[in-house]
Amino acid sequence: MSKDPAPSRRGFLTGALAAGGAIAGSRVAAQSPDPAITELQPWMQYLGDGVDARPYGTPSQYEAHVIRRNVEWLTADPVSSVNFTPLHELDGIITPNGLCFERHHAGIAEVDPAAHRLMINGLVDKPLVFTMQDLMRFPRENRVYFLECAANSGMEWAGAQLNGCQYTHGMIHNVMYTGVPLRLLLEEAGVKTNGKWIMPEGADASAMTRSIPIEKAMDDCLVAFKMNGEALRPEQGYPIRLVVPGWEGNMWIKWLRRIEVGDQPWHHREETSKYTDLLDNGIARRFTWEMDAKSVITNPSPQAPILHSKGPTVLTGVAWSGRGTIPRVDVTLDGGKNWHEARMSGPSFDKSMHRFYFEFDWDGKPLLLQSRAHDSTGYVQPTKNDLRAIRGENSIYHNNGIQTWHVNERGEAENVEVS
Ligand code: MTE
Ligand code: CO
Repeated sequence: MSKDPAPSRRGFLTGALAAGGAIAGSRVAAQSPDPAITELQPWMQYLGDGVDARPYGTPSQYEAHVIRRNVEWLTADPVSSVNFTPLHELDGIITPNGLCFERHHAGIAEVDPAAHRLMINGLVDKPLVFTMQDLMRFPRENRVYFLECAANSGMEWAGAQLNGCQYTHGMIHNVMYTGVPLRLLLEEAGVKTNGKWIMPEGADASAMTRSIPIEKAMDDCLVAFKMNGEALRPEQGYPIRLVVPGWEGNMWIKWLRRIEVGDQPWHHREETSKYTDLLDNGIARRFTWEMDAKSVITNPSPQAPILHSKGPTVLTGVAWSGRGTIPRVDVTLDGGKNWHEARMSGPSFDKSMHRFYFEFDWDGKPLLLQSRAHDSTGYVQPTKNDLRAIRGENSIYHNNGIQTWHVNERGEAENVEVS
């Protein structure tokens, strides 16, 4: 590991003062006089909107580009499709509710909570039906988890394809959920001794189902009704969704209406024709529930080029693991010849997104940026070639290989592969 090439704080500040208060190398410093300083701006000349003009707040008009985006050619119809979280526009670890990527198999169900019920049936002592009011009478917990679709980065198996971390890595969000531990509801119904699996089912027109082992159901799953403090959005399963921490997003059933307890997995569509990984030798991996450790540099990236010339530069990104926390992320500026330990910042929760930074002095020359996550089990994120050597190229799911961005002299970034 080489020494971090971070610019010295003192040198950085001296440079900033010399350039008239602006950051050395920025374009603002060249303009004089600067109208942003010398002229009275419109927002200083008029009174603004009063307090009730925006009873539910939305972002500034200047943030209108910060949106979820879809790749139209990926799917035949937006009703069974996906859009992507704009990771390159976010910071910290929490995904704002309106920017959480959406994956629907039959569009957004607009559920009336007064007419919504959660049923628990099958191998239980007492089949039960809960109203929303009933659920509110169980003890709640607050926990932060990432949800990653198993197909995230799936388009990149055969080589670099989509130009932006929004598209290559944006099938992920990280939210604080408030919900009732699933264990409490299952205990209320009384799981019979031969009850070894559960099958949650959604109330949307796809009636999404998955088989989940009872150990996981009793461990850390939640029936969540709040995200980041407010009611779930319809896109995310309002009024309730299943939270299955660290496991592939497909299992997090939205618009949850029923949980059947059984003695074996159901082998429904989503765990046979989908969400299995066909290897080179013709054998398919099944029940690959856990999401392996992964990371991506969000800035710079194709949608977020470096906008200044050489000098102090902030690199940042996110990392996560379905098996624990992320104590360490390494970054390289030269395609893996030299690795540097990044600086982790923000809370480190189990099975949650982590934020890393790496400040460096850019010499204005091309860069090959990569990040490599280490999780709390000691697992290290593999290169794409390492992954292909084991899994072949038939797969769609579980691509957690190291991403590379090439940055040119103008600061523009592009999706490439070097390892
Ligand atoms: N649940 C229902 N009822 N219907 C669905 O289409 N899609 C699944 C899962 N749960 C789905 C569902 C898939 S594949 C994923 S990746 C996640 O929900 C997406 O969750 P999100 O829309 O909150 O991002
Ligand atoms: Co999915």
